[in-house]
Parts: sequence; structure tokens; C-alpha cells
Amino acid sequence: MRTVTVGMLGCGTVGQDVLNLIERRAAIFADLGVRIEVVGVLVRDTARERRIPAGTPLTTDPAFLQECEVVIEAMGGVQLPMTMLRPYLRSGRPVITANKALLAECWDELRDHALNGKLYYEASVMAGTPVIGPMSTVLRASTFRRLQAVLNGTCLYILTQMEGGKDYAQALAEAQALGYAEDPPTLDVGGFDTAHKLTVLARFCADGNFRYDRVQVQGIEHVTQADIQAARERGERIKLVAELESVGGEWQARVAPQSLPETHPLCTAGASRNAMVYEGEECGTLIFAGGGAGGMVTASAMVGDLLDLLIGFPGHVPLH
Ligand code: NAP
Ligand code: HSE
Repeated sequence: MRTVTVGMLGCGTVGQDVLNLIERRAAIFADLGVRIEVVGVLVRDTARERRIPAGTPLTTDPAFLQECEVVIEAMGGVQLPMTMLRPYLRSGRPVITANKALLAECWDELRDHALNGKLYYEASVMAGTPVIGPMSTVLRASTFRRLQAVLNGTCLYILTQMEGGKDYAQALAEAQALGYAEDPPTLDVGGFDTAHKLTVLARFCADGNFRYDRVQVQGIEHVTQADIQAARERGERIKLVAELESVGGEWQARVAPQSLPETHPLCTAGASRNAMVYEGEECGTLIFAGGGAGGMVTASAMVGDLLDLLIGFPGHVPLH
């Protein structure tokens, strides 16, 4: 049995469930001849109560990064995780991350690592619903035409609750309590989290160097109860929609609230499910839908990435 040492950055909504799922899947790791040893888990407050396996080595000292073989980043933020990961990545070791803000905004530094197969980030878009895996592999054979997607669980939750008559502030507080929202939640409601995710997707189907600042962004802060009820009367629903398509030979990426017919696939996917309609010339129209936010659904993709890494699959390689 080979021991693989894992270090983790962050142990919040996502990190706790990653640790629990690693423990739950010990038999699958054993089938691969591997025993996972978590050698350090970086947090701000080691005294905070957490639901994690007994004996988890919580610490405020990132020194474990110098020795571990794999890093799982579930901390969030942009500059701090980049600073911590930089020397680690330069040594050629792999990173698994759910952090779409980091991926979208630090691509100049991360791109070479991704091209070398050292970055695993299935969880960064639509959490446990696999879209990055297919887009980085089989869908490459088909000519990409257009995608349209609902990618933010917090906005989806807020807009759905508002349809039931709840006010915006209460619905946002509930999304935060459920562990869906970013810190700060402006990233969600301002449309920026959706733009980060659209940027990550664009690098698999449009341009491997697609820049975050090319996305036009509008959030849901100005959507009112009256807008939502008027849409309902027309047989429509308001969603925060991400779109990517080629217009006059240029890739256009937008995030904005849209009123869609109730029969639209982004509406029929279900009240609490992220969804993506992907159009390719040869593959036709594909619909992906599933959980896009929450601890365990995100952990399922991150532990899946860890299994891929141990089996020897490269990370998610963008277009060259
Ligand atoms: P979270 O609950 O706020 O957890 C963040 C963790 O990072 C906490 O354990 C916190 O420590 C630690 N941390 C933050 N700043 C730190 C610092 N300066 N030094 C040391 N530790 C620090 O966040 P989350 O919801 O798990 O999200 C984590 C990442 O996953 C983010 O990139 C997010 O975008 C991404 N993601 C989240 C979801 C979701 O549904 N929540 C889904 C997909 C992707 P303390 O616990 O001590 O405060
Ligand atoms: N804050 C994000 C959302 C978490 O609400 O979708 C999942 O990426």
C-alpha cells in the first residue's frame, strides 16, 4: 500500500465534506493500492467547531505545503491562495481546486500548469455536475457553437424563493445559511461568480486564453418582486443566465438576468439545479443539469478529481 500525502487549504462548507468523503471512500483508494494521509488542513481558527474526521490536523501554519504530494484548495479568494500555491505549483505538484475566481483571474500564472495537466478543477463550475470533464475531452471533437447556462446556486435560490413571495434579503440570508454563497455574496448577486465560471468554460470551447474581463456582467440586485410576478403571469421565469457565442467572428460572453419561457431547458431543469445547454455542430444540443452549490455535491467532484489523479489521468487541459 502506497501512502499519498494530501494538504488542504480551507475547511469550511466544501473542505469539511472533502475530508468526510475522503474518509468514506477509503476502500476505493485501497483498491488503487493507496492510503490517503491528510498531513495538514489550513484554517483561520483551529478552535472553531467542525464536522470532520477525528484527528484531522487543523493548523494556521501552511508549512505542510512544502512536503505534501497533492494540494486540495477549498479556501476561496484570489491573491492569498495564489501566493500559497505558487511555489508548490512551480515544483510540479498537482492542485485540485473548486476556486473559479482564482482560475478566472490568475490564468496568466495558472495556464501553463493546466496545459501540463497539473490542475484539476471539475468542481469549479456546476460543482458535482460534470461539465468540465466532457468539455475538456469528448466534446472537443465537435465544433462549438453556443452555450447558455444557469451557473450560480445562490441567485437561483434567491429568484426561486422570490417567486414564492419571499423578499430578496431573507432569501439571500437563507442561501448563505445553506452554504451556497461566496464571501462576500456580492460575488454571487452581482453576477461575478457566474462570470468567473463562464470564463473557465470558455477556455475549453472558445479560446484557451479567454480573459475574465471580456465577460459583460449584470447581476440580480435590481430584479424586483414586480418583475418576477410579471414574468410568471407571462408564463416565464427570471434566471441569471450566462451566454457564450460567436458574433461576427468574435466570442461574446454575457451574464445578465433573463426572462425565459417556463418550457426552456434552463427552467425545466428544476428549481434548485444548475443547468447548461451546450450546442455543438456535430454533437447537437446537449443539456447538463444538477446540483451546482453545497458542500457534499462539490466535494464529490473534488474527490473524483483526486481519484482521477491517482489513476493517472491528467488534470483539465484547456484549448492550446
Ligand atoms: P467557506 O465555508 O467560507 O470556507 C473557507 C475556508 O477557508 C474556511 O475553513 C476558512 O477558515 C479558510 N480560510 C479562509 N481564509 C483563510 C486564511 N486567510 N487563512 C487560513 N484559512 C482561511 O467557503 P466554501 O463555501 O467552503 O468555499 C471554498 C471554495 O470553494 C471557494 O473558492 C468557493 O468559491 C468554492 N466553491 C464553493 C461551493 C459552495 O457551494 N460553497 C461550491 C463550489 C465551489 P475558518 O474555517 O477557520 O474560517
Ligand atoms: N456561490 C456559488 C453558487 C457556489 O452560489 O453557485 C458554487 O460555485
